Amino acid sequence: MSDFKSLIEGTPLLPILQPQSVEQAVNIAGAVHASGLRSIEVVRRTPVAAAAVTAIREAFPELLVGMGTVLNQEHVQEAVDAGSQFIITPTISEKLLSALSDITIPYLPGTASPSDILLAVEAGLSEVKFFPASLSGGAAMLKNFSAIFPEVSLCPTGGISNSNLHEYSSLPNVFAVGGSWMIPKSCVASGDWQGVTAACALAQQQFTK
Ligand code: 3PG
Repeated sequence: MSDFKSLIEGTPLLPILQPQSVEQAVNIAGAVHASGLRSIEVVRRTPVAAAAVTAIREAFPELLVGMGTVLNQEHVQEAVDAGSQFIITPTISEKLLSALSDITIPYLPGTASPSDILLAVEAGLSEVKFFPASLSGGAAMLKNFSAIFPEVSLCPTGGISNSNLHEYSSLPNVFAVGGSWMIPKSCVASGDWQGVTAACALAQQQFTK
C-alpha cells in the first residue's frame, strides 16, 4: 500500500522540474526550498534527471525529492537507485503497478479516467494523480469522481496555474496539486532563482481548502 498522501502532508504543492543540468536543478531546488515548500518532482525527460535527484537530496536533505515520468520497471529502478523518496507516473497499467508494488517508497500512479482509477483501486490504492487535469475534464471531472470513488484522493497536474489553482485545491477529494508553473520557464532561462521562490510562495498563498 502506497502512503504518498501522508508523506507530503502539510506541503500539498508539488513543483515539477525538468532539469537541463545538475547545477541548474540544485539551484532551482534551493529556490523551491527557500519558499517553504517541502517537495519537488524531477521528471525523467532529460538525461540528467537521475543525477539531479541524487544531487538535490544531498544538497537539501530536508526536501522531499521524487522522480516523475516513470513508465516501467527500468524507470522504477532508476528512480530508486537515484535516491528518490517517491515516484510519480503519468499513466497506469497492471504491469507498471506490479513494478511499483515491489518498492518500499510511496508512489502515485497517474490516472485520466474512471477506468484508470478503478485499476488503482483494484490494486488497493486510494491516492492517484489526475493527469493531464485540464484536458481530462478539469475540476468538473474531479467533482464527478467524488461521487463514484468517495474513498479516492487525487493530485491533479497538467494545465494548472495560479489562475485556476483554487478550482482544484478547494475540492474535498484533492489532497495535493502539482505543476511546472511554480518553476516559471522565464525565471529558469534567466537564472532568476528568487523569481522561482516568489512563484512558489505565491502558489502557497493561492492554495486554499
Ligand atoms: C507534467 O507531467 O508535465 C505535469 O503534469 C506538468 O504539467 P504542466 O506543465 O501543465 O504543469
